[in-house]
Amino acid sequence: MAEESLQAAVVHNYGGPEQVVMERVPCPKPKAGEVLVRLKAAGVNPADWKARAGYMKQFRPLTFPWIPGLEGAGVVDVAGPDVTSLKAGEAVYGPIGGSYAEYAVAPAKDLYPKPKDLSFEEAASVPVGALTAWGAVIQTANVQPGQRVLVQGGAGGVGAFAVQLARWKGAHVIATSSGANVDFVRSLGAETVVDYQKEKVEDVVKDVDAVIDTVGGEVLERSLQVIKRGGILVTIAGSPDAKAAEARGVRATRAGRADAAALQQISELLESKKVRPVVGKVFSLAQAGQAQELSQTGHGRGRIVLRIGD
Ligand SMILES: NC(=O)c1ccc[n+]([C@@H]2O[C@H](COP(=O)([O-])OP(=O)(O)OC[C@H]3O[C@@H](n4cnc5c(N)ncnc54)[C@H](OP(=O)(O)O)[C@@H]3O)[C@@H](O)[C@H]2O)c1
Repeated sequence: MAEESLQAAVVHNYGGPEQVVMERVPCPKPKAGEVLVRLKAAGVNPADWKARAGYMKQFRPLTFPWIPGLEGAGVVDVAGPDVTSLKAGEAVYGPIGGSYAEYAVAPAKDLYPKPKDLSFEEAASVPVGALTAWGAVIQTANVQPGQRVLVQGGAGGVGAFAVQLARWKGAHVIATSSGANVDFVRSLGAETVVDYQKEKVEDVVKDVDAVIDTVGGEVLERSLQVIKRGGILVTIAGSPDAKAAEARGVRATRAGRADAAALQQISELLESKKVRPVVGKVFSLAQAGQAQELSQTGHGRGRIVLRIGD
């Protein structure tokens, strides 16, 4: 059963990774429709360090003290009033706010049974990446069998799922990555992987049906050049230039994370091994600041994960 207080990685002020400190804080109590989860692992997302650095303070200011974390996996400790779908002792995963902690509360409707062959670390690496890729590839681009799809940033926490989901849909997948990740991205199902350190993808790829951009900035801007008329540019990492897109006869739009309900189908894909999780570097909860520092580099493979507890 939950303790009165718990260990968490806590932030008190906007700033660098040194702002992430370990502290004991009161244990939250689940309200109606919520469960308290004893976390075993948490995913580390770029949004965590961006929020800590104050990049989102204009439109989503933090309330301090703030516990970072958007996703995790663990065991239901206490089910709140009215919760019948989950019971204490069940292994679950899903979007969980404040997951850099030993315990956190989450809406029961957002949590799904942990796919049985996945470790807690693997399960914690899935929700944000897979749901965002689902939002982009399935819901927004609506990728169809036989289409040619370019995933910009195929090695990342979102990109690795975007490649796999587009492949699962029967698309011919092209992706970009650094040289160190080319073979890895190919292993996820990309037929062609362009090393962006050696060549510009727009010099070697033309007339794709869809681009899924997870990089933003200049990469997003240049992506328009590879799409055929009538195609679509979907970005999760910026705002596309609507005028430039229109001039090329391309639909350009942003996409966000799909509702947690999509984890039902994502769980099935994981169980049937049509899609696999990709855990990057694993840190302890006490190393959360270092984990964010690594995330901040914008390079790596799969999702960085915090291991929590024993
Ligand atoms: N809109 C939303 O709802 C939403 C949700 C999740 C994430 N995001 C945003 O989407 C972005 C990606 O998130 P993530 O979780 O996938 O990040 P991540 O796990 O840190 O992955 C970023 C990836 O980008 C690759 N990369 C860097 N520069 C590149 C370039 N010039 N060309 C191609 N690939 C490049 C890196 O691969 P190499 O190591 O091979 O360079 C790395 O694997 C972040 O900005 C994040 O904030 C938005």
